[in-house]
Amino acid sequence: MANGSESIPPPDLNGTNPIRKLGPILPGGRRALALMLSTVVFVLVFSNYYPEQIQIFYGSPEPTDTYHQTAITGQGNNENCNLFNGTWVRDLRGPIYTNMTCPTMPNSKNCGKYGKPMDYANWRWMPQGCDMARFEPQLFLHIVQGKTLAFAGDSMGRNQMESLLCLLSQVESPTKVHSDTEDKFTTWHFRSHNFTLMALWTKFLVEESQREINGTLSQSHDMHLDKLDARLAASLHEINILVLSSSRWFFRTNYLYEKGKLIGCIYCSEDNITSFSVNSVIQRAFRTALSNLNSRPESRLQLTVVRTATPAHFENGVWDTGGTCNRTEPVGEGTTMTSAGELEIRNIQVEEANRAQKENNHKEGMNIEILDITKAMSMRPDGHPGLHWDNQWMRGYSDCSHWCLPGPIDMWNDLLLAVITKYRKNLEVQ
Ligand SMILES: *[C@@H]1O[C@H](CO)[C@@H](O)[C@H](O)[C@H]1NC(C)=O
Ligand SMILES: *[C@@H]1O[C@H](CO)[C@@H](O)[C@H](O)[C@H]1NC(C)=O
Ligand SMILES: *[C@@H]1O[C@H](CO)[C@@H](O)[C@H](O)[C@H]1NC(C)=O
Ligand SMILES: *[C@@H]1O[C@H](CO)[C@@H](O)[C@H](O)[C@H]1NC(C)=O
Ligand SMILES: *[C@@H]1O[C@H](CO)[C@@H](O)[C@H](O)[C@H]1NC(C)=O
Ligand SMILES: *[C@@H]1O[C@H](CO)[C@@H](O)[C@H](O)[C@H]1NC(C)=O
Repeated sequence: MANGSESIPPPDLNGTNPIRKLGPILPGGRRALALMLSTVVFVLVFSNYYPEQIQIFYGSPEPTDTYHQTAITGQGNNENCNLFNGTWVRDLRGPIYTNMTCPTMPNSKNCGKYGKPMDYANWRWMPQGCDMARFEPQLFLHIVQGKTLAFAGDSMGRNQMESLLCLLSQVESPTKVHSDTEDKFTTWHFRSHNFTLMALWTKFLVEESQREINGTLSQSHDMHLDKLDARLAASLHEINILVLSSSRWFFRTNYLYEKGKLIGCIYCSEDNITSFSVNSVIQRAFRTALSNLNSRPESRLQLTVVRTATPAHFENGVWDTGGTCNRTEPVGEGTTMTSAGELEIRNIQVEEANRAQKENNHKEGMNIEILDITKAMSMRPDGHPGLHWDNQWMRGYSDCSHWCLPGPIDMWNDLLLAVITKYRKNLEVQ
């Protein structure tokens, strides 16, 4: 188990900041001293409230390259908290919501209902050099008042929206204002905060269509690497905050187009078509998406967040060969369970987000941030639904990709709250 995992979580300090600065983890009584000191630091540093505290933990006054380097590579010392590098520590306070208090929880993520022992919900992400407070639904709703936040991506993006819905429904019950039969496009509204939350099914971020073979939809797609997904493009006039993610669907036979011409394919068997690596295609798709978001005059985007690849944890096989995920505890840092492939995709996504940020520097409204969850989630093989025989969702296969609710995925929204808090002033202006 990771170092410090047995430590008792520090008491909740008063205040509504999502991130608190904390000294290095000290044993025993020195820990109490560290907490006292950090309370003093908290009062001194955070009296200005927002967004200064974020500058402290990001170690940089502006969202610049330095910030990204600091946040991502964990350079520096405890002065510079690295939100994305840390450990999971025991937290016996229990989750903020349960399947009884979250009316929108989908069956496919309601792991408690299917008898999965709930111990996986008793852990909390502890970033290096700082501490994250529990999610504050009231604070989140306050910042996003009058705004629209969309998760564009595949079912993993929807999973994060489902977590956010559960977290926010502790303060206000949302109303579903739109959905389709497959829940690919859903819109929820929090009336008293006039906040709209959407999931947009854009599994490649770029324009695509599923191939038909003899009138039946096949598993392969035609992808236009130079065109932003049309549904996403058509929604940009109403979205203020966009969380982009995508990686899973690239791993199949897909045909690639540029300027309307076939230029290659992934995993195809035709000899006369150029073969592309999945990674190079993911890179192109993110580049196209990020560079097209704000080229549209009607866009209302203020903040774009790139959520990095989320690892799956099949053991003893893959999903359709009897692979399972029945571990009951997080794994330590040394044994992170992420394939090299997922880490490479994460690196590409970070690189493209950084590139886009550099290119958009000084362009109004074009703020790009990263939710780098890959490493943290690689340590959580215990947080997936796994095998639920009476669950129609996976028809008898283990689901080792999606995440249980409540569960470790809720941490993505702790990070999201930290990011939107950083842009609080920008968001409130418009
Ligand atoms: C994360 O923290 C560990 C332990 O302090 C360190 O060895 C590692 O280099 C860090 N990784 C990143 C990406 O910052
Ligand atoms: C909620 O989860 C508990 C286990 O924690 C389970 O016993 C119960 O049936 C679930 N209830 C609902 C309504 O899903
Ligand atoms: C709610 O927010 C939308 C923008 O998302 C705005 O057009 C509308 O006027 C707001 N409604 C109220 C009642 O404030
Ligand atoms: C499509 O249908 C034709 C005629 O029925 C058949 O010869 C061909 O094998 C089918 N192709 C595929 C890929 O199933
Ligand atoms: C590849 O070859 C097949 C027949 O073998 C042909 O139908 C197809 O048009 C060719 N594609 C390209 C891009 O040349
Ligand atoms: C976990 O699954 C493996 C098969 O993948 C099985 O051999 C093992 O007994 C299972 N462990 C538990 C605790 O159920």
